[in-house]
Amino acid sequence: MIYLDAAATTLQKPPEVRRAVMKAIETMASPGRGSHRPAMLAADTAFACRQAAAELFQVKEPDHVVFTLNATHGLNIAIHSVVHPGDTVLISGYEHNAVTRTLAALDGVTVKIAAAPLFKPDAMLRAFDRAFTKEVSAVVCTHVSNVFGYELPIADIAALCQQHQVPLIVDASQSAGCLPVHMDELGAAFIAMPGHKGLFGPQGTGLLLCGDVPAQPLLMGGTGSISAIQEMPEFLPDRLEAGTQNIAGIAGLLEGIHFIQRHGTAWILEHERSLAARAASRLSGYGVHTFVSPGMAWQIGVLSFQVTGMDCEAVAEQLGDRGIAVRAGLHCAPLAHRSAGTYTSGTVRASFSPFNTERDADTLARTVAAL
Ligand code: ALA
Repeated sequence: MIYLDAAATTLQKPPEVRRAVMKAIETMASPGRGSHRPAMLAADTAFACRQAAAELFQVKEPDHVVFTLNATHGLNIAIHSVVHPGDTVLISGYEHNAVTRTLAALDGVTVKIAAAPLFKPDAMLRAFDRAFTKEVSAVVCTHVSNVFGYELPIADIAALCQQHQVPLIVDASQSAGCLPVHMDELGAAFIAMPGHKGLFGPQGTGLLLCGDVPAQPLLMGGTGSISAIQEMPEFLPDRLEAGTQNIAGIAGLLEGIHFIQRHGTAWILEHERSLAARAASRLSGYGVHTFVSPGMAWQIGVLSFQVTGMDCEAVAEQLGDRGIAVRAGLHCAPLAHRSAGTYTSGTVRASFSPFNTERDADTLARTVAAL
C-alpha cells in the first residue's frame, strides 16, 4: 500500500518507536506511583520525553511539557484555561473542529474570524490586525491548515498578540516535526500538538506546551503528588496529568522525537514538500485541479486536489481500492473549506511523510489520471 495520509496519522514509524513501545509494555509501570524499578524506569522515560520535547520546541522548563491524549485534548485544556463566559475570541479562517467546536460549546463566547484567501499570508495578517478590537481577549490560531498544508504567518500573529497583550493558543498539529515550533519565540500561552502525526508517536499521545498563563485542568484525580489535599496540584505537569499516563505511548513518542532531532525539521519539510510539489505538477499535467501556492511557498507537504466530474469521496475510495490511502471530504475543518471556497465539494488530500518516495508521488498522479 502507498500511504499518503500522514496529516491524519503517520503509519510508517521509525523502527525505534515500535521497539520502545514493546520494551515499555514489558518493563515499565507508572511514573510517580512507586520507587520500585518498573516505576522508576517509567519516570525516567517520561522525563526524558519532556526534556527532548522541551529542547525541540524551546520550552524553558521540561515540566511545562504536558502529556495529553492528542491535540484536541490539549486544545480543550488550553481553551478552557484562557476563555471565559462573555469573552471574544479571535481565530483564523483555517481552524479545525478541535478549536471551533470547543469554542462553540462555551456559553456566551463570541468568535471572530480573521478571514483571508488561501496562501495569502499578508492578507491573513491584515485580517488579524483589522479584527483585533479591544474586546478580543484571546487568539486561537493554527500554524498550518490540515486541509491545504498552508502555513499561516504565526510569528507575526504572535507579535500582534504580544502587542495587544492577549494570550495566544497555537494548534501545531501539522507543523510539529516539520517546521520550527518555538514556544519561547512565539511567547504563546499554549501550543498543542498530537504525538501520532509528525512526531511519529503512537495514537493516544499528544503534547501541550504551557507558557505562564495559569492552566485549568479538565480532568481531576490522582497525580502521585501531594495526595492529602483535595485540589489538583498547582504545579505543572501534575496539574494537568490526572490518572495513569500512557507510558508505552510516551516511550514511543520519545523515539519519534529523537528521529526528528537526528534528521532535522528542515530535511523533513524539504522531503515532504518536494514530493507534494512533484505530485501536484504531475496531477495538473493530467488536468487535475491542485491547491498549491507558487513555488510551494507557505506550504508544507500536504496537497489537496479535486478531479473534475468526480466526487472527492469516490476518488478516495477508488484510490483505496487501488492501494493508495488518502483522505477526502471536509477533513474536520469546514471553516478552512469556507475560506478556500471548497465547502460544498471538499477536497481529496494526499499528505506525505519522510517514508514516502518520488515513486509514491508519481503512482498517485498516474492512478488518479486513470480513474
Ligand atoms: N485532523 C486530522 C486530519 O487532518 C485527523 O486528518
